[in-house]
Amino acid sequence: MIENNVDTAFFHSWFRNYVKSFYTEYPKTQRNIRLKEEHSLRVCKEILRLCKALNLNKNALRLADTIALFHDIGRFEQFTTYGTFDDRVSENHATLGLKVLKETNILSVLTKAEQTIVYNAIEYHNVRKVPDNADEISERYLKLIRDADKLDIWYVVTNYYRERHRHRNPALELELPDTPEYSLCFIDDILNDRVSNSHDLKTFNDMKLLQLGWIFDINFTPTFIYIQQRRIIEKIITVLPDTEDIRKIQTHLKAYLEKRISEK
Ligand SMILES: [Fe+2]
Repeated sequence: MIENNVDTAFFHSWFRNYVKSFYTEYPKTQRNIRLKEEHSLRVCKEILRLCKALNLNKNALRLADTIALFHDIGRFEQFTTYGTFDDRVSENHATLGLKVLKETNILSVLTKAEQTIVYNAIEYHNVRKVPDNADEISERYLKLIRDADKLDIWYVVTNYYRERHRHRNPALELELPDTPEYSLCFIDDILNDRVSNSHDLKTFNDMKLLQLGWIFDINFTPTFIYIQQRRIIEKIITVLPDTEDIRKIQTHLKAYLEKRISEK
């Protein structure tokens, strides 16, 4: 967290109280509310680490922290209302988040220009393709939150895949069937450096392939370095079936990562 900053401390304390209002005795909901609360706070840390690696100034750090803190603010209402994080069968959580922020008017302490940046970054943090009509400054923050968010989702899912035999959480699997199959369109997308479409998900393995393909949506060199250091590709590959396709995508993804790191 940034020290001596009124806005940042104010937003963090508002966030804590807001999330607490969703705490419940019902274990399934409580577990998932906490999951997103902790995720949001870790994304703040990721985005600050990234901003520092990119030498951004203090004001940029403050704004980036705000975006990270609020990017999933719609998740709490989403899970409480629908019992799922699946936007396809509930509501778009980014849109829901904007509604929460606007209704509470919590961002009113920021300048109008800053509010626009935060709203744009949240609105587009989860779309498959970043819109090309965004202004340059909004686009930079949007890229930051998209990188930071993915870093933490990879952290969550790789831990989950390792521990899954002990504690299952169907919400993290979007209730997809855990069968040995995977859809070939996901393999094809990876081999062509494309992010897949979540609407094509049919099995749990497809979800792992979708998560691997997010690498083609990463924007900043430090993020590629973190992916390599944290061995994200390897950790997801080990929980996929040992087939020729999977070996091919592993080689392809590793080569892509090395290329993006060496480019600078
Ligand atoms: Fe997120």
